[in-house]
Amino acid sequence: MTEKKTERIDKILSNLGYCSRSQAAAFLRKHSVQESKTHIKDPSCKAAASNLTINGEKIDHPDGIFILLNKPAGFVCSHDPSEGTLIYDLLPERWMRRNPVPSSAGRLDKDTTGILLITDDTKLIHTLSSPKSNIEKLYLVTVDKPISKETAELLTAGTLILQGEKAPCRPAKLTLLDDNRCEITLTEGKYHQVKRMFAACGLQVLKLHRRKFGEYCVDGIEEGEYREISFCS
Ligand code: URA
Repeated sequence: MTEKKTERIDKILSNLGYCSRSQAAAFLRKHSVQESKTHIKDPSCKAAASNLTINGEKIDHPDGIFILLNKPAGFVCSHDPSEGTLIYDLLPERWMRRNPVPSSAGRLDKDTTGILLITDDTKLIHTLSSPKSNIEKLYLVTVDKPISKETAELLTAGTLILQGEKAPCRPAKLTLLDDNRCEITLTEGKYHQVKRMFAACGLQVLKLHRRKFGEYCVDGIEEGEYREISFCS
């Protein structure tokens, strides 16, 4: 069995968003922090985060956060409050004081709904966001005009070069649902890619919902709600 990593209590409390390092002594006076029934009063004391309780409750996500959020329209994928109402406002407030702070793997536009994977594992964010990982993202798209055979062929051919880009978009998978609606699957995430791909074919995206991100699917999760998941590589 591998030994659990131990760290100073003040570092654990500040990295998990409970208080700053300088506030740790006061936090320990005010709250009952225990490791295996032993009260901890000294912020320099070392412990394994997952063994700790605070006021009798297990410490919050000592081993990291990995969740699937169903993003509602009107929320922005940013940590900057000057950009509007943030997706992170939908999560527990303490999480935003964690270090590293949880962030989404890639972004959705303000008006796009659907699946976002959010984690504090920076390496995982990089893996999930990288086009090299070839992760399929499936979108439900509603456009303003019927999707012609030519449009479908162009989107799936792997020849479409978007304005300002040098390389063509990778071939998309496309399933027509009705005249103005389709499912499209991409393995890359260029800026506003779905909207720009349809715009290049003369169609305006009216509604965009991301249903799947790799193995993960947002079906069954209410808008604005999130669910804990585990990483499947
Ligand atoms: N493509 C877009 O155009 N917008 C999104 O939010 C996601 C993909």
